[in-house]
Amino acid sequence: MGNHADYSNYSSGLTKEEMLVNLIESYVALTADTDNWVANLSNCSSLIWHGYHSVGTPVNWTGFYVVDPKDPSQLILAPFQGKVACQVIKIGKGVCGTAAASNLTQVVPDVEKYPGHIACDGETQSEIVVPFLNTKGDLVGVLDLDCLELNGFNEIDKKYLEQLANLISKTCSW
Ligand code: SME
Repeated sequence: MGNHADYSNYSSGLTKEEMLVNLIESYVALTADTDNWVANLSNCSSLIWHGYHSVGTPVNWTGFYVVDPKDPSQLILAPFQGKVACQVIKIGKGVCGTAAASNLTQVVPDVEKYPGHIACDGETQSEIVVPFLNTKGDLVGVLDLDCLELNGFNEIDKKYLEQLANLISKTCSW
């Protein structure tokens, strides 16, 4: 690996699973020397954005919401790639707030069929949201990916993004 930007260049012809393994390895390498959550989540958003695009999944938003330090009843926008998004989401509301309240990954094949889905971008068709905790077990935030196609995410995404969320918990100081 020469420059940092090289981490954004995934090999062509990878399966989604191979790409996700690669993404996780890159995240580990990039965060080896820093535990700053803004830096780590910023590069993580970029790794996810470029990784999914490299395998032909048209993600239109990849990023994070964290528990708002000023009001822990809500999530607040954190590092991301994509268009401008909702700045706050109440815990319990929408896909992100539901993942945060339940501490369970939400895989949403069709956002139109998800009661309470919050449409930050009307073009989004499917979504996955993975919550993550600190080492004490308290909710810290959620990882959110939106896709322009129906059924953009499945059990493979869930498996690897949960691994990534677990690493995020351990590699960042909150
Ligand atoms: N759709 C999310 C809101 C966040 S944006 O997708 C970036 C939700 O329902 O919580």
